[in-house]
Amino acid sequence: MGDAPPASALISAGADAPPNTDAALNTVTVLRDEWRFGGRFVEGSTAPEFDDDAFAVVTLPHCVADLSWHEWQPADWAGEWIYRRRFDRPAGAGRLFLDFAGVMSAATVTLNGHEFPKQLGGYLPVSYEITDLVRDRGNALAVLVDGSWLNVPPDGSPDGPAAVDYMQPAGIHRDVTLRLEPATFIADLFAKPLDVLSADRRVEVSCTIDSADPPVGDLALTVAVRLDGQPMADTTVDIQLVGSGRTVAAATLDRLPDVRLWDVDSPTLYDVVATLTLDGAPIHRQQRRIGFREARFERDGFYLNGRRLQLFGLNRHSIYPYVGMAMPARVQRKDAEILARDFNCNMVRCSHYPQTTEFLDACDELGLLVWEEPPGWQYVGDEEWQELLVRDVHDMIVRDRNHPSVVIWGVHANESAIYPELYTRTRNVAYELDGTRQTSGSLTSQSTEGWVQDVFAFDDYSHDAENALLKPPVPDVPYLVAEAVGALDGPHYYRWTDGQDILAKQAYLHAQVHDAALSDDRYSGLVAWCAFDYASQNGYTYKSMKTPGVADIFRVPKPGAAFYRSQVDPRRRPVLEPAFFWDFGPESPPHGPGPGALIGSNCDRVEAYVDGTHVDSARRDPARFPHLEHAPYFLDLTVDPSGHPELRLDGYLGGELVISRSMSADPTGDRLRLDLDDNALVSDGSDATRAVFRAVDAYGNQRPFQTGEVALSITGPAALIGDNPFSFADIPGVGAVWVRSLPGQTGVVTVTATHPVLGTASGQFHCGETQQ
Ligand code: GAL
Repeated sequence: MGDAPPASALISAGADAPPNTDAALNTVTVLRDEWRFGGRFVEGSTAPEFDDDAFAVVTLPHCVADLSWHEWQPADWAGEWIYRRRFDRPAGAGRLFLDFAGVMSAATVTLNGHEFPKQLGGYLPVSYEITDLVRDRGNALAVLVDGSWLNVPPDGSPDGPAAVDYMQPAGIHRDVTLRLEPATFIADLFAKPLDVLSADRRVEVSCTIDSADPPVGDLALTVAVRLDGQPMADTTVDIQLVGSGRTVAAATLDRLPDVRLWDVDSPTLYDVVATLTLDGAPIHRQQRRIGFREARFERDGFYLNGRRLQLFGLNRHSIYPYVGMAMPARVQRKDAEILARDFNCNMVRCSHYPQTTEFLDACDELGLLVWEEPPGWQYVGDEEWQELLVRDVHDMIVRDRNHPSVVIWGVHANESAIYPELYTRTRNVAYELDGTRQTSGSLTSQSTEGWVQDVFAFDDYSHDAENALLKPPVPDVPYLVAEAVGALDGPHYYRWTDGQDILAKQAYLHAQVHDAALSDDRYSGLVAWCAFDYASQNGYTYKSMKTPGVADIFRVPKPGAAFYRSQVDPRRRPVLEPAFFWDFGPESPPHGPGPGALIGSNCDRVEAYVDGTHVDSARRDPARFPHLEHAPYFLDLTVDPSGHPELRLDGYLGGELVISRSMSADPTGDRLRLDLDDNALVSDGSDATRAVFRAVDAYGNQRPFQTGEVALSITGPAALIGDNPFSFADIPGVGAVWVRSLPGQTGVVTVTATHPVLGTASGQFHCGETQQ
C-alpha cells in the first residue's frame, strides 16, 4: 500500500500496449466502464450497502465538473465527490492489487467498508493490496475524490487556486486497474543501460521482488533483452529471499553485441523481460521498454550519443477543453505527435507535473526528449508540503526511469526560490533512484547562490519593446532556457480574436529566441512557452484561459506555429506556412497583410503571385535571424482588395517547384471543414478522437473572424464531449469537440457539423472491439 504500482501493469493495460502474453502469470483488468458517479459526496455513500442506483453511469477518465472549453471556476470542482464501482474478483489464485494511475487532487479509497488512508496529490500512482479484503463477487469500491485546495504540491499557497498558473479540475482522470499477482512476484523492474557507446555497454537490471510468503525451492531470475521479440542476451541469477516483504535482486546484461541506439531520428526500443522461476518453472514475468542512448548536458551544450544536439522544444500542459486532464491514452499521445511531427520539436518539457505514462510512451516511440518534473508552481510550503514534494520526486522517478525519452529530472517546484536543503534532498533522491540523468529545475533568476543541481535552467522572458531577447548563459554550468516568449507581447495574447499582426508576431518572437539560442554553444537549447493554451486564474487571463500557446487549447496551430512547422528538412517535407490570413473582411487589414507578411518555410525560394502575376520574392533577414537554418521569410503583400484577389505562393528547392499554396479572398467560396484525428476507435467507452471544425476558404485555408454557432450531431455508437452548439463568439471560426466510443458498442460513427452560413461538413470513423 502506498507504493507506486509497477508501470508495466498499467502500461500493459493501455489501448496501445503490447498484448499480455502471460495471462497465467499476471492478470490485469482495467476498470474503465460501469463506474457510478454520484456528484457531490453524501454521508454514508462509501458504505458497501449504499444504494447508488440513482448515480450516473460513467467511464474513466472522468472529470467531476461539466465544463465548457473556457470560463472554468475552481468552485466547480472544489469539495468532495463520490464514485462507486462493483467488481468481481478476477479468476485465479494470488494477490490482488488495486492501482490508481492518478486521481485529482486526493482520494480516499474504501473497499467493502475498509477505508485506506487518504492519498494526496493528483499526478502519481498509488497501489493498494486488497487480497484480504476482496470476496468473489460484488465487491463494493468507493472513491471519495477531494477537489479542494489542499496543502499538497502544487497547491498550498494561502492565496488559493489563483496562485498556480494552471487549473486542475478534479476527478479520476487516469486509469484504475485490478492486478492479480502470484504470492511472490516482480513488483518493479528498472533496467539501466550504461556505457552504451563503448564495447563495455551493459544493462544493469534491478528487480524488486515482493513476497507474501517466500516459496520453498530454488528461486531464480532470468533477465533478457530483446529487439522485436528476438533475444539478444540473457542472464540468470539465483535469488535468496530474506523473508516476506521486498527484496531487490540485481542482474547485469553485458557482452552485448552492437546495439541500435535510441536517437531522435531513430528511436529504437528494446524490451527487457525479467522472469522469476521456482525450480525452473516461471512464476512471474515483468517487461519494460528501454532505449540505448547516452544523454549529457555539458558546458558547451547537450550531447545525445556523443553528438551535440540543439534542444528545440515547447512546454506542454496536459489540460484539455471540457474535461480538464481527463483524456484517454490516444488523445494524450496525439499531443506528442503534434509536438514531434507537426512542430518538429526534439524536446518537450512536461510543465509542471508528471504527465501520463501514455504520453511518455509516445515520446519514447517518436524520439521526443522529455524534461519531467514534480507538481509545483512558484511556491514551497511547510514541512508537510515539502515531504510530499520529496515523495513526488521519488514516485515520479520510480514510475518513469525506464523511459529513454526522459533525459532530465526536474527536482524543483517550477520557479520556486532555491531551498538548498530541500533541493539537495530531491536531487539525491534522483541520484539514488537513477543516477544516469542530470537534475534541474527552472529558475527566474540567474543567481547560483545555493543552487545544487546539474543543469542550470532559466526561464528567460527578457525583451524590449519589439524583440524577445536572451540573457547570456550562466558561466561554467550546463545551461538550458526552460521557458521563453509566452505572452510577453501583451496581456491577453495570442487569441484568435487578436489582429493578424499580433498573431504573426508570435511566430516572429519564437523564431527570435530560437535563433538567439543558436548563437552560443553554451545554450543547450530552448524550450519555449508554450505548446497549447491552458486554463488558469493566475495573472492576465481571458475567461479563465491563458493563450500563449502556439496552438490553441483545441490543439489547432495558430499563425505562431508557422515557425515551428517549417523547422524540418525540406527533403523530408517541404513547408510553406503563412503566418497571415488572406482575408479582406471588415476586421482584417484593408490592403492585405502588408509589407512584413511572414511565412514559415524551409524552401530555398518562395515566390508570390496575385491573380497569376508575380508580386514579390520572399526574403530572409540574415541580420535578424543569423543562425536559423530555416529562418522566416518576409513578403510585401500590400494589394488592392477589389475583385477578390487570389494569392499563390510557390516554394522551390534547388530550382524545382516543390510546394504551392493558393489562398482565396472571395468569401463566397467559404465553407465549414471538419477533420477527425482517427478513423478507428476501440469501443471501451473511454477511447476518443478529436473533431476539429474550421471556417475555410475555397482552398482550405482558415478564415478568421467567423461568427455564429456550429451545431453538432452524431449517429452511431459514440458520445460527444464538448459544447453543442459550439459558439464562435470567443474563438471565431475554429473549434473542436471530442467523440468518445461507447462500451461494447461497435459500428460506424458519423460526426456532422453545421453552420448557418458555412454549411455542413461531416466525417466518419469506426468503433471496434479492438484496435484495427
Ligand atoms: C512562467 C511560468 C509558467 C507560466 C508562464 C506564463 O513564469 O513558469 O508556468 O506561468 O510564466 O507566462
